Amino acid sequence: MSSLCVVILAAGEGKRMKSSLPKVMHEVAGKPMVNHVVDAARPLKPQRIIVVIGRERPQVRGILAKDTRVAIQDKPLGTAHAVKAALKDIPLAARDVMVLYGDTPLVTFDVVRSLYDFHKSQAASCTVLTTYLDNPRGYGRMLRNDADQVIGIVEDKEATAAQKLVREVNTGMYCFDKEDLLNALEHVQASRKSGEFYLTDAVSWLFHHGQKVVGCVAEDAQEVLGVNSQKELSEAACVVRRRVLEAHVAAGVTIADPATTFIDPSAQIGAGTKVYPFTYIEKNVVVGRSCSLGPFCHLRENAFLEDGCSIGNFTEIKNSKLGAGTFMRHMSYLGDTTVGKKVNIGAGTVVANFDGKNKNKTVIKDGAFIGCDAVLVAPVVVGKKALVGAGSVVTRQHHVADGATVVGVPARELKKKNTKRSRQQR
Ligand code: UD1
Ligand code: CA
Repeated sequence: MSSLCVVILAAGEGKRMKSSLPKVMHEVAGKPMVNHVVDAARPLKPQRIIVVIGRERPQVRGILAKDTRVAIQDKPLGTAHAVKAALKDIPLAARDVMVLYGDTPLVTFDVVRSLYDFHKSQAASCTVLTTYLDNPRGYGRMLRNDADQVIGIVEDKEATAAQKLVREVNTGMYCFDKEDLLNALEHVQASRKSGEFYLTDAVSWLFHHGQKVVGCVAEDAQEVLGVNSQKELSEAACVVRRRVLEAHVAAGVTIADPATTFIDPSAQIGAGTKVYPFTYIEKNVVVGRSCSLGPFCHLRENAFLEDGCSIGNFTEIKNSKLGAGTFMRHMSYLGDTTVGKKVNIGAGTVVANFDGKNKNKTVIKDGAFIGCDAVLVAPVVVGKKALVGAGSVVTRQHHVADGATVVGVPARELKKKNTKRSRQQR
């Protein structure tokens, strides 16, 4: 069994965000910041993940995964005070305590694993994950002695001019020997300047009381950046977005313009698919191989596209499945719709899936052809190879038979024999 317990601090006020939403609930790539940290720590398989939330911000509890334990900090009196609030929840059997902050959404499993491995390999009392920043403003600076040992951390607002020049910063990720941590926390005094109890002071206390304190340097500073302001939040969102796009590109997806392409981390896209500018892809979207998306295409939650679909400009698809080789090239909306293979959805086609109370389903079967500007008022079925004329309104409960042609408002079947289909160009 692992000897590790992880404590994630998420009880701060977040004043610098200038927002009524608790800071750690702000989302990066569709996921609250604190959950990025929880997800990075979970594969360590600790005995417990404790998230410290503020008594005045109980809503944070609602977004946390069930496998986390919540501890309450009565007042945001600083990071050492927050860790103290978690002490009673740390399992007796735990020997190491990793402390992380809930406002570092770019952290990965690799980062926390290397921190833990380093801590164990050094048999340290306290390991601080550090990094070097060109602009270290706002961060606690690492203090080292002539022997290059970590002797403490000084907060930005308390640093002297000389200390402010130090580029090595505290990332806010630490591993402690549990007993040593408990001991040190008893001795942390409130800062004279801010009145807060700093966890960073526990680090220097340990050093000055003969314990082994080491720094573990994170090579990639981007992975450990903290978010304190809206500006840093959007910077973090850009980093995650770039990571997602790079993974798709590496897997054979063409992305014409990364600057205008937004893809949720949960989306799957097959190789050979081309994504044109201003494409926005939300949660749980699956796109097959060799599809074409955009420009200006919006795939919302649970859009599922099989191979070879072509989805053009000003199109929106939500909670719908499109069969292989289906085309929807211009200005159309599909919601709660199941579309077969090789269907043509003409320009301006809209599915009216919401009747004011319920979402209703539409089925468009293989090879059907929906003319320009058609409205399908769900629930509706369009049969195989059926044709819906341009501008038609197919009304509720209508079942267009396989091979039938319907036209008009409301759409009625054309009974003429040998109807010639003058199919519009795609
Ligand atoms: C903190 C560190 C700083 C480090 C930086 C890295 C301290 C004193 N300073 O500064 O050395 O370089 O992170 O990002 O630790 N929190 C609580 N309760 C509190 C106060 C804070 O739970 O009473 C939580 C916050 O929600 C946040 C985290 O602790 O998730 C860090 O607090 P924050 O105020 O953001 O600290 P920084 O000023 O960024
Ligand atoms: Ca912070």
